[in-house]
Amino acid sequence: MTNAITLTDITRSYGSTRIIAPTSIDVESGQFVSLLGPSGCGKSTILSMVAGLDHASTGDVTVDGRPAVVFQDHALLPWLTARGNIEFGLRSTRPDLSAQERREIADRHLAAVGLAHAAERRPARLSGGMQQRVGIARAFAVEPEILLLDEPFGALDALTRRDLQLELLSLWEADRRTVVMVTHDVDEAILLSDRILVMSPSPDATVIADISVDLPRPRAGVDPDPELRRHLLDLLHP
Ligand SMILES: Nc1ncnc2c1ncn2[C@@H]1O[C@H](COP(=O)(O)OP(=O)(O)O)[C@@H](O)[C@H]1O
Ligand SMILES: [Mg+2]
Repeated sequence: MTNAITLTDITRSYGSTRIIAPTSIDVESGQFVSLLGPSGCGKSTILSMVAGLDHASTGDVTVDGRPAVVFQDHALLPWLTARGNIEFGLRSTRPDLSAQERREIADRHLAAVGLAHAAERRPARLSGGMQQRVGIARAFAVEPEILLLDEPFGALDALTRRDLQLELLSLWEADRRTVVMVTHDVDEAILLSDRILVMSPSPDATVIADISVDLPRPRAGVDPDPELRRHLLDLLHP
């Protein structure tokens, strides 16, 4: 099995504070891996290293494939419509496409997240959940080999959050690209992941558990494993 992501003994320090102690993480191609840990332990920092937006203080980062990132605050361009935001993402990543092709891809991905009717709206006229759907559609539209999700549902109410988790699950189950998702939500990690990496708090944070989730897929109607849930909560709140 080939690794899409290999982090070898990475650390990250700010001044004299070592946020992340030597940590190694391998993600196999096609795996859905969650990084679960307390606030401030370095989850976003690790994701940024994989995305090439930040560097490790020491250690090696190897990424095999093109990543796309979905942030918690969706980071849509406010002056572009929903469709325009997706087309904009395609313009730099897929310069081979014609304007017509970009539009078709944007509309197909808007439809996939239930927003065909909102293609012409700017972000100010979209709810938080709709904006996050556009962010997810924009990431999938560029067909990245690796999808990096940084607490993508963190800002949403519980019902919208559940809807979007299930949407993400069915999008992912259709083509199983490599995903690394940052979350501090145990149930979200169990619902979505093949593997959960649990991190200890900062400073000197590191991965303290690497747990396989063997629940059957598709997961939409599957009951979460209560024993696993208990175990994860114990690791997070010792
Ligand atoms: N530019 C910076 N200067 C100093 N400390 C930083 C900087 N950026 C992040 N940190 C610290 O690094 C730690 C990890 O941050 P982050 O990766 O965002 O954590 P998480 O995503 O797990 O909540 C935090 O304690 C944060 O305060
Ligand atoms: Mg973070």
